[in-house]
Amino acid sequence: MIGRNHITAVAAFVLAFAPLSMGQEASDPLARGKYLVEQVAKCQYCHTPRLASGELDKASWLKGAELDFAPTHEVKTWHKKSPDLTGASPLFKRWADKGITNFLVTGKNPRGGAADPPMPTYTMTQQDAEAITAYLKSLP
Ligand code: HEC
Repeated sequence: MIGRNHITAVAAFVLAFAPLSMGQEASDPLARGKYLVEQVAKCQYCHTPRLASGELDKASWLKGAELDFAPTHEVKTWHKKSPDLTGASPLFKRWADKGITNFLVTGKNPRGGAADPPMPTYTMTQQDAEAITAYLKSLP
């Protein structure tokens, strides 16, 4: 049988550690944005160039790339290149924070259309999109 002390110990453990791991990310948009970009959406797979070894080039993180894959059938609007997403990029200057956030929320760029494949159409929450924009903006 699970005793009262056991339950108290589990509760104490959860209380002690849960706020650390969850709260930190929720209250820090940069950490949240980095997590969403790198661990959930994996933007780096297409927006970071690769070294000759095939590994992602950490020195050019999210600075745009020539894709290292292609579809097995013809896709007319396929883009072989992805743009630089970092703070000082032309894209950031043209679209501004608001344009990037809106694009991630609605899937539509400031011209009103979706991006060409293989760029996925994301429809994120405003909060997650803002966190991603903040993270991208912070990148050199
Ligand atoms: C599967 C590959 C892939 C992934 C994953 C990916 N992208 Fe892209 N992205 C592209 C390509 C290719 C383009 C160029 C398409 C175009 O210009 O229409 C692009 C274009 C863009 C553009 C410009 C769109 C336009 O209409 O000009 C933005 C902004 C962007 N990506 C942001 C992101 C962000 C942020 C993430 C992660 C949340 C991400 N991308 C994930 C491949 C990808």
